[in-house]
Amino acid sequence: MKHLIDPTDLTKPEIDEIISLAQDIIAHRERYQGSMSHKKLATLFYEPSTRTRLSFTSAMMELGGNVLGFSDARSSSVSKGESVQDTVRVVGCFADVIAMRHHIEGAQLYATEVSTVPIINAGDGSHSHPTQTLTDLLTIQRELGHIDGITIGFCGDLRFGRTVHSLIKALSRYKDIKVILIAPDELKLPDYIKQDVCERTGIPYREVTTMEEVMGELDVLYMTRVQKERFLDEDEFDRVKDSFVLDAARMALAKKKMAVLHPLPRVNEILTEVDSDPRAAYFRQVENGKFVREALIVKLLEWKDDPEHGMPSDETPVEDPELRCPNKKCICNNEHAPHRFRLTENGVLRCWYCDSKVR
Ligand code: CP
Repeated sequence: MKHLIDPTDLTKPEIDEIISLAQDIIAHRERYQGSMSHKKLATLFYEPSTRTRLSFTSAMMELGGNVLGFSDARSSSVSKGESVQDTVRVVGCFADVIAMRHHIEGAQLYATEVSTVPIINAGDGSHSHPTQTLTDLLTIQRELGHIDGITIGFCGDLRFGRTVHSLIKALSRYKDIKVILIAPDELKLPDYIKQDVCERTGIPYREVTTMEEVMGELDVLYMTRVQKERFLDEDEFDRVKDSFVLDAARMALAKKKMAVLHPLPRVNEILTEVDSDPRAAYFRQVENGKFVREALIVKLLEWKDDPEHGMPSDETPVEDPELRCPNKKCICNNEHAPHRFRLTENGVLRCWYCDSKVR
């Protein structure tokens, strides 16, 4: 069965199929209405959301299906102590597919170990957000006409920005991508993305500390919010919260054909004066999220019993009860998940669920 927990769970041809189907849905919406009648999507949101949850809901409604679930885990039996695995076992009796957001990293991967229906990761802590990635890829394709060959600048909170981590992983499947990382020291991209993704797959990247020095090179500027909810130290957040602000003056330094993306919500990092610039693609990006989630639901249910579309099987976890993941926000430190690890090509042992470096 195919789940979507990490962008690399999809092969490049599978990503292409989803993007292509999303474009066909945009062109011929009437053809897909009713195609999911009698199917049910469960949205299990343990963490706040506007776009992701409502776009999944809207997507399933456009396809003629039904939606059930919760937007606040405190209103569910989670508040009585029910585990993630028990919750998905139960919800799998009621729904054909589950979209889950969780503040605990690796929760959705752990859930797949017992689930009888496809699970879609709608964001796990600061780790991964693969459906935002599909949204971003569709947006780049529609705005620029191609994804191969782009130079993309990621700006802001690259440390906790799960959308950044996931999009870089997905872009490693495309040709001639160049990445520019624009962040202060406190918010730099985690090493596991630099080493295990950029360096292993040969994506050139460079790190800079101002937007001005790179604006003119970019085909895509991917802005992000500094995420207050991920900081353990409020003083550290206050020091970096307004590190980068995109305004009309900085937009004047950019190419005429360039796309500004932002997963949203924004706080201060893009001034509203930029919204009317034709290169500001972030509200079009939101709408693309609905179409790509329609395509994803259709494809995951189509692939459910197809052995050609399973999960990648080239890795087996190393189990060692003596070792511990250092990440307090990892599922294996919050539920009775096994202590599993993956040995990377460069000899680093990482947590199976959250990618934290263990040794
Ligand atoms: N982009 C995104 O994930 O937004 P929400 O947190 O509102 O779902």
